[in-house]
Amino acid sequence: MSSLFKDMLSSEESLFKDTVALDYDYVPKLVPYREKHQRFMALCIKPLLQERNGKNLLISGIPGIGKTVTSKKVFQALEDEEMNEELYLFHINCWENNTAFKILLKMCEDIGYKFTHNKRADELFAIVKGVVNKKSAVFVFDEADKIEDIDLLYTILEDIYRKSIFLITNYKEWAAELDQRLMSRLSLDYLDFLPYKPEEVKGILKNRLGYAFVKEVWDDEAFNSIAKKAFELKDVRQGLFMLKEAALIAEDKSSKKILPKHSQEAIDKLKDFSIKSPSKLKDESKIILNLVRKHPKSRIGDLFKLYQENIGDISYKSFQRRINELVKDKFVTVSKIEGGKEGNTTIVNYKEEERKLTDFSK
Ligand SMILES: Nc1ncnc2c1ncn2[C@@H]1O[C@H](COP(=O)(O)OP(=O)(O)OP(=O)(O)O)[C@@H](O)[C@H]1O
Ligand SMILES: [Mg+2]
Repeated sequence: MSSLFKDMLSSEESLFKDTVALDYDYVPKLVPYREKHQRFMALCIKPLLQERNGKNLLISGIPGIGKTVTSKKVFQALEDEEMNEELYLFHINCWENNTAFKILLKMCEDIGYKFTHNKRADELFAIVKGVVNKKSAVFVFDEADKIEDIDLLYTILEDIYRKSIFLITNYKEWAAELDQRLMSRLSLDYLDFLPYKPEEVKGILKNRLGYAFVKEVWDDEAFNSIAKKAFELKDVRQGLFMLKEAALIAEDKSSKKILPKHSQEAIDKLKDFSIKSPSKLKDESKIILNLVRKHPKSRIGDLFKLYQENIGDISYKSFQRRINELVKDKFVTVSKIEGGKEGNTTIVNYKEEERKLTDFSK
């Protein structure tokens, strides 16, 4: 009797050395091309090491250009240089932890406090405060625009003595709409991340090859076409996705090398790419996404009317903003039609989401 799996496993050696190096939350040894950004963040934290108050920062830029990894690298440097003795470091993903309660639970976990059961948010905050106020703290709220209880920021500003708050977002305009009182108390510094240049994208992906793959399995042209595509998309994350997909395709075909045809197939698979799981969207965005799903290829104005008639009152501007967010997060696509019989209009379409990527990022 043939042994399906044994044959499959013994017939070829893997092209991968370490797939973990392709995970999106992997923090590589080097985060090149973002040294200035690391230094800027470090300068905001520095006063905390001198028993003064730190600075607060709004970090913004489009998806997949190193905001998260750079901030994690700064934390790693603090740990490596044993500066974390004087500091509590909180790095919180607000997609996953979007309420004050969830954020505080995560903070309790980070400070090693276990008796959170049956406690309310204010009780959890009192515990965090009690511990953190013995030292200083850096709070990174990643995907900060997803925080639903923005009051938590007030509470931290008021009740934590020495801290730096970093807010990371894809939408700089989000901060402009925050309450003026909060904004003036935060007195934010700004750090913009711009997309990488072609040779930078190439350099980053090339670095990963060394960690993730067996030596010399990548054909130059196959690699270059993926680096080029990642540059065009202005997104390193999608570059990593393609590297992994191309290698899986090559392995599947029992090829000892990753060839241009495998890269091409991986590039074609990009349509399956979506960064975030829809379950993590804000309710309003979920409803809008559902509307687009039910009425694909509709005009934005028609979708807006449907929303108003069936769901609730919302301004056209906020509706448009939600659609833009869904576009940036790659759940929907838009195309513009110019000069139709009703003038220019935007068509919104639902994007296929076989979510291979959510598994990949685990
Ligand atoms: N300069 C770099 N050096 C090494 N890896 C990088 C660099 N920039 C980005 N990456 C990698 O690219 C992927 C995307 O980067 P990151 O997660 O930091 O993006 P982001 O700007 O936070 O995106 P988003 O806004 O979608 O959260 C990660 O896997 C990250 O490790
Ligand atoms: Mg990020």
